[in-house]
Amino acid sequence: METVAPSQQREAAPSTDHDSKTADDTWWRSGVIYQIYPRSFADGNGDGTGDLAGIRARLPYLKELGIDAIWYTPWYVSPLADGGYDVADYRAIDPAFGTLAEAEVLITEALELGIRTIIDIVPNHVSAQHTWFQQALNAAPGSPERARFWFHKGLGPNGDEMPTHWPNNFGGEVWSRTTNPDGTPGEWYLHLFDSQQPDLNWSNPEIIDEHEQILKFWFDRGVAGIRIDSAALLVKDPALPEIPENPGPGEHPNTDRDELHEIYRGWRAVADSYPGSRALIGEIWLPDTERFAAYLRPDELHTAFNFDFMTRAWGATNLRESIDMMLAAHEPVAAPATWVLSNHDVTRAVTRYGRSDSSFDFLKKRRGVPSDLELGTRRARAAALLTAALPGSLYIYQGDELGLPEVEDLPLDQMHDPMFFRSNGTDPGRDGCRVPLPWRGDDPPFGFSLTDDHAPAWLTPPREWARYTAARQDIDPDSMLTLYRRMLAIRRDEGSLGDGPMRWIDSERDVLAFRRGESFVNVSNLSEHPVTLPAGCVPLLSSMPLVEKPDGMTLPTDSTVWLRLTDARQHLTGEPRTA
Ligand code: GLC
Repeated sequence: METVAPSQQREAAPSTDHDSKTADDTWWRSGVIYQIYPRSFADGNGDGTGDLAGIRARLPYLKELGIDAIWYTPWYVSPLADGGYDVADYRAIDPAFGTLAEAEVLITEALELGIRTIIDIVPNHVSAQHTWFQQALNAAPGSPERARFWFHKGLGPNGDEMPTHWPNNFGGEVWSRTTNPDGTPGEWYLHLFDSQQPDLNWSNPEIIDEHEQILKFWFDRGVAGIRIDSAALLVKDPALPEIPENPGPGEHPNTDRDELHEIYRGWRAVADSYPGSRALIGEIWLPDTERFAAYLRPDELHTAFNFDFMTRAWGATNLRESIDMMLAAHEPVAAPATWVLSNHDVTRAVTRYGRSDSSFDFLKKRRGVPSDLELGTRRARAAALLTAALPGSLYIYQGDELGLPEVEDLPLDQMHDPMFFRSNGTDPGRDGCRVPLPWRGDDPPFGFSLTDDHAPAWLTPPREWARYTAARQDIDPDSMLTLYRRMLAIRRDEGSLGDGPMRWIDSERDVLAFRRGESFVNVSNLSEHPVTLPAGCVPLLSSMPLVEKPDGMTLPTDSTVWLRLTDARQHLTGEPRTA
């Protein structure tokens, strides 16, 4: 493997912006961001695990796809108890993926192709193997080492009752008990996720300071943005009360507490101290859109994932309601919306959209719910164009551009996700959306390893995935990959797409039609019948073939077309709507 010199680019990185795309300080308002789950993207050294060498080799693929930035899920040293969201050292790359020096080279090489780097910071917790937690376990109750976490004595006469009964995000309990050096049961510690992910105590100034240093460490290496994991969970009520039945705003003891805003103002100050714009992107699951938008005030985060759209069932009224609601929520804080169809935590879009109930909810995830993949793929194609035309930035989860379905029949010995194990298998977990990408060939693992065709991948892709390989789709004009490439090429050239206003157009029932700028129109037909397109429009791209009928071109059901209006006065009317 090529050797790389460490840190050469450090000072130069922020000023290596060289084309108009990477010189644009507002890139995060419109950008197309591709999410890489490094373990499953491409394997450069033949050990069956994805790595930085694999990503470097595949950068031309991403360039051709037409993205503006890559977001890497955690690539740091980690025991992988939660797929890397259990970080043991924020300043080092896991040896399974590569080295820090190689990450620096990757950041630079991507930037040379006009692709920025976004990394994932996990501030709510660390790995139980992190030095801080190991020190805390070895220190006495009440010590400064334990004050970095939430150690607490148990309730009841023997201290064997947990301090609270808060629910765990992965199922099971949120407290685990430690053992004293003499073997007697000791204090409990808090973990909102797995027991290998102890929660940090954000009331402790040392934690605030450490994270600002971590941000600087990565910004110094040319990183353009930070995805903030579990961004609304960090702060806890130190009194550790139970969760009230109907908590009012800011009253929940571990979610969306008001003190968070001060923390993110500090992060924003760090980001703003760098040249160019370093974007802060929150993973914020909150049903209250006003509380959600409060994180996007001008001196806090730049954007946050819009999960509402992703969780909605396929249906015009439902999706339009979500679009209107989210755009309205962003308006008062002047932040751009984001559009997300899937990620490493949720069921793949083509599988979701092929189900009779196509909404998503962690609580109702079950194995073996049937899905019509042909229908799901058709809808996922329509959804791709629809979301790419909406105002704001766009996220693409690796493999969605290949139309990969969820793998729902992984054998037990291939299951890794704590969500599966902590729910005793009731929840199928998230391994099924993290299966290594199929690149080429007819047999699993489909060229996942660049150096050894036969190296087994850490999770085995199903045999049927031969039809989804990037190589096969590359030469197929009707493939999902071709659709994504065309879509992103148009989106890049079309000045009215990305950030900016949109305007709904009066249309038939169950049709989502809107205008961007004067002449660009998106029509998504979610009705059960084909719809006739206005005369004189020029189709730019459609998710399914248009059908010529005597009274004009028609758009089939469950599809989207992008049109160019040749005459702005055509009977497409509508009220202006600002984003
Ligand atoms: C976020 C991540 C998820 C992880 C959890 C705990 O929700 O997206 O993958 O398990 O946080 O860090």
